[in-house]
Amino acid sequence: MKAGIFFSFFALAASAFATPIIAERQLESQATQLDELTALVRQHTANMNATAASYPDNPSLAQQNDAAKKLKPDFDAVTDALKAATSTLAKREFWTEIVARGGDSSNPPSGGGGSSCDKDCLTIKIKILIFEIAYTLKFLIIKLGLACLLPLITPLIIALSGLIKALDKVVAGLLILVGGLLHAILGGLAGGILGLVGW
Ligand SMILES: *[C@@H]1O[C@H](CO)[C@@H](O)[C@H](O)[C@H]1NC(C)=O
Repeated sequence: MKAGIFFSFFALAASAFATPIIAERQLESQATQLDELTALVRQHTANMNATAASYPDNPSLAQQNDAAKKLKPDFDAVTDALKAATSTLAKREFWTEIVARGGDSSNPPSGGGGSSCDKDCLTIKIKILIFEIAYTLKFLIIKLGLACLLPLITPLIIALSGLIKALDKVVAGLLILVGGLLHAILGGLAGGILGLVGW
């Protein structure tokens, strides 16, 4: 009886102790994932900027549609990268938890390179990603008009919303924060798309 009580107390204490370790490792692996994602996104936003810059201000309808066609591969790449990051993050969350519950805890699979990243640090990384995407979209919409870009921007925003929803489980309040940022940057230009995903 006493052993039983001791055991359940120990199990309770162990699980209370384990929670912050799991959270910490998640933040680290997610930080690395976000760094990689932002680096990849930057390659494509650089292409998008260069593509848009090659068109005159107030482009004709034909030029707008031509630009959209040239921008599509870069948009698709960003949308795919956001989706891939979302599913990797979901898998890592699960895997890290299994390891923390009895795997080899001396060698966490964080891939974090030893650098620790807390919630504030993770939030900053997410803001950098959001600013990169949002300001590029703003530039493109002002330059080319929303109409030709709508079929490209909509899936990207849906994918971004999926990623932020997944991360909101780790950094509570992130969905609201990012929604606020996107509205501040794009609200006047693409508020309808943001509304579509509940932002
Ligand atoms: C693309 O242009 C936007 C708007 O000027 C800018 O915020 C963004 O950093 C640029 N991206 C790259 C990779 O040059």
